[in-house]
Amino acid sequence: MDPHSIAALMPETDGHQFVFYGDCCSGIPGAPFASNFAQVNAALQRLQPQPDFILFLGDHIMGAYAEEHDLKGQWRYWFEREMAWLDADRVPIYHTTSNHNTLNAAAEDVWREVLPDIPDNGPPGQEGLSYWVRRDDLLLAVVNTSYSGLGGPGHVESDWLHSVLSAHRDARHKIVAGHHPALPVNGYDERPQWCIARSEAEPFWQTLVQHGVLAYFCSHIIAFDVQEHQGVVQICSGGAGTNYGPGGFMGAGEYHHFAQAALDEKELRLQTIDADGRIRERFSHPS
Ligand SMILES: [Fe+2]
Repeated sequence: MDPHSIAALMPETDGHQFVFYGDCCSGIPGAPFASNFAQVNAALQRLQPQPDFILFLGDHIMGAYAEEHDLKGQWRYWFEREMAWLDADRVPIYHTTSNHNTLNAAAEDVWREVLPDIPDNGPPGQEGLSYWVRRDDLLLAVVNTSYSGLGGPGHVESDWLHSVLSAHRDARHKIVAGHHPALPVNGYDERPQWCIARSEAEPFWQTLVQHGVLAYFCSHIIAFDVQEHQGVVQICSGGAGTNYGPGGFMGAGEYHHFAQAALDEKELRLQTIDADGRIRERFSHPS
């Protein structure tokens, strides 16, 4: 192996090897977050072997918060320049909506336009925003925590999720991804600003528990954090490049990173890799 390369955790038996990261608020040439994101991507390109797929957990672009930069231009820069290194035919990316990506109905329209290949199997009104994908024995359900029809950022619906998880009860592994944490991370407990609204978070979490979901992957908080509640783990990775969130800076001890996972019939194993390519944290959980 090239001494420059970073060894991926690998499943011991048939399984899945994937990368998840999110929250770079980029898409604007020359902006500080763009160089952070470039460093994280440079580290990711050293991963060997490259992942089966990537989960990008939202806040790809600065979005409507940068009024002087049009959304389509931000997306174009994100895909055509910042992610030009990736062969997306070989390594698909599954994207989540978010407060920066889809802040309002107009931004949702742009999202649908720039991401036309997202499966059209979401809940009514959220087609192309929320979706599920089956990869052999793995179900990935991507929820939309920023739907304009539900009140915007920090809201989620669980009826569709319940029906998808019911229909795929045969899947050995079930994972769910969305942008907002359901459970507070690093003390960011204000709802719906930092976590899903309380009245929706509870039924959402109980849906995950009821259906034996392994993990809920999220972002939004500039941190890496794992916590288990009732047998389901919430895994937050918000280190792709953003330096801070409104009202809160990256906490002490946090760092820009991507995370990599190996999933097999025995366990889920994770490692985080920082912008310099150093392995920083590891975690495992029975699958
Ligand atoms: Fe966010």
